[in-house]
Amino acid sequence: MSLAGVKVCVFDAYGTLFDVHAPAARLRDRLGDGADRLSAIWRAKQLEYSWLRSLMGRHADFRQVTEEALDFAMAETKLGGPEERRRLLELYRTLDAYPDAGPALQSLRARGFRTAILSNGSPEMLEDAIGSAGLGDLLDEALSVEAAGIYKPNPSVYRLATEAFAVAPESVCFVSSNGWDAAGAAAFGFQVAWLNRFGRPEERLPWKPRATITGLDQLPDLLTGAS
Ligand code: LAC
Repeated sequence: MSLAGVKVCVFDAYGTLFDVHAPAARLRDRLGDGADRLSAIWRAKQLEYSWLRSLMGRHADFRQVTEEALDFAMAETKLGGPEERRRLLELYRTLDAYPDAGPALQSLRARGFRTAILSNGSPEMLEDAIGSAGLGDLLDEALSVEAAGIYKPNPSVYRLATEAFAVAPESVCFVSSNGWDAAGAAAFGFQVAWLNRFGRPEERLPWKPRATITGLDQLPDLLTGAS
């Protein structure tokens, strides 16, 4: 299994390069056993609000959406107070990168691919996360949906990548651990590698990934045809 003709490798950020569940895990001593549930609701609501705002034509940036989703999750789980809220949001700005992110980006660059992030995150959020993870030198671009004023999976978001690199969609390998994002990117015409980090079933949507990987370490060989 390999992808042919790829020039640019474009990554989703949250859940793909950065671990969105790291903040609640770090605060487990304060949040207790419900930390994982709080984190799962926080993430699900964050995405739900991004889709709702896009459908309603009422965009707000991902920092606001992330805060509003956290407020819902804290209310639903009855966990945390103002101090936990402040710390969770602070930790969200400086998320841990998954351990396979840096080495994969390094290897792709060494093989001549250009690399980018294309994310719902606001430019400031992405700058902080990339900086704290030390990935800045390994990325040609950090593209934010803010330039399109609507969230993924609207096609105008994926178009930001083809415009930034002046390439056709099929020259882009788009990598996301989010099945719905992988489907949106495939519908746009990218060659998609779905990063199934969490052992999820495949989405029941017609737009399929070209390849499925379970770790970013598998990506360089996938793009250069070695097995
Ligand atoms: C992003 C969300 C989808 O980074 O995780 O765009």
